[in-house]
Amino acid sequence: NQGIFTYDPGFKATASCESAITYIDGEQGVLLHRGYPIDQLAKESNFIELCYALWYGELPNDDQYESFKTNISKHTMVHEQIVNFFRGFRRDAHPMAIMCGLVGGLGAFYHDNLDITDPEERRISAVRLIAKMPTLAAMCHKYSVGQPFNYPRNDLDYAENFLYMMFSTPCEDYKVNPVFAEAMDRIFMLHADHEQNASTSTVRLAGSTGANPFACISAGIAALWGPAHGGANEAVLATLDEIGDDSEENIQRYIEKAKDKDDPFRLMGFGHRVYKNFDPRAKVMKETCDEVLAEIGQSDNPRLKIAKRLEQIALEDEYFIERKLYPNVDFYSGIVLSAIGIPTNMFTVVFAVARTIGWISHWNEMLSNDFSIGRPRQLYVGYDKRDYPSK
Ligand code: SDX
Repeated sequence: NQGIFTYDPGFKATASCESAITYIDGEQGVLLHRGYPIDQLAKESNFIELCYALWYGELPNDDQYESFKTNISKHTMVHEQIVNFFRGFRRDAHPMAIMCGLVGGLGAFYHDNLDITDPEERRISAVRLIAKMPTLAAMCHKYSVGQPFNYPRNDLDYAENFLYMMFSTPCEDYKVNPVFAEAMDRIFMLHADHEQNASTSTVRLAGSTGANPFACISAGIAALWGPAHGGANEAVLATLDEIGDDSEENIQRYIEKAKDKDDPFRLMGFGHRVYKNFDPRAKVMKETCDEVLAEIGQSDNPRLKIAKRLEQIALEDEYFIERKLYPNVDFYSGIVLSAIGIPTNMFTVVFAVARTIGWISHWNEMLSNDFSIGRPRQLYVGYDKRDYPSK
């Protein structure tokens, strides 16, 4: 409704929808959430306040913030029956596989007489999803390590609560490191929304059929799992560990591998469909890396050294310059998550926890306006009509 953004007719013809939630200028490396730049939000705001702004369109005043935060904390527990869900999975099942099942299964608890045409019902569904995703995610981790589940605590902030549920055990009191909690909250903010990325478009397409919001978010989780999308941060760490050291010769060898069309190796965490400049989230993530690693006395962390050297050499390489390949949000996130103690198989789950507010805000925006069922068209390149061969 600001109307300050104008598009040429060609671009308008390719756009899948109109949205007022997030704006990306890929050439300038700009990311705005409801008009607010991500680097300012990451420094001045917090994830719950950003959730409010993404859902309602404006930053909350103090009363609205407190009421929203309290409401979220009152929905962090999950039905005890959910515990039985885990029994069907092996302990080494990938947490994203379990999350697809769990979140889709939440619909069974809330689906009956869920009227998605009612804005209040959509709001309640969003609160349930935002609140329960960290609980479900932490349960996935606890299940994989054979430790008892932790119940959420209403005295902790959102990111603190997640880390508490992830790492507390009945054997000893667990205090969340405030530097880790602040970094975790910022990581949630950096992953909150990103306009029509693959998983958000999946949620919108599923939502356009009238599917319940839990099923739509489960579809988004499935799409995010792909290594080209949300799974990249797990792949970045594998690449950094494979590279092994930050010697010029070693780094250059992998840069050449990434450029070699006959080699399937790609520099994970580099490149982006929209950003043809620095991903503004990557800059904040890199600073967060330095803060967390300094906190644990690992400022010379080998992975960080390799990543910084890799970035420096790649950004001076003709191949990367020509193709405008820059670090994206995933390039540094794995190093930070690992330093906080999050296991690699949980990296994309963290991404899904954060992106839930983006997914459900786009779902709500679509249902708040006129929409019709999604039906992408194709260019048919197959056979012309032909008769079935007579026997
Ligand atoms: C996310 O959409 C979103 O907003 C996603 C996301 C979000 O918040 O939701 O931002 C999150 O998904 C971040 C991206 C995480 N994925 C990765 O880091 C995987 C590595 N990146 C590449 O797979 C790739 O860059 C993509 C998939 C991210 C983008 O691909 P594009 O824009 O379709 O680019 P492309 O594949 O057409 O590549 C253009 C050229 C090609 O070379 P040429 O054919 O022109 O010779 O650049 C090359 C590619 O081979 N290229 C790379 C590269 N990425 C692109 N070469 C080496 N390493 C890379 N990482």
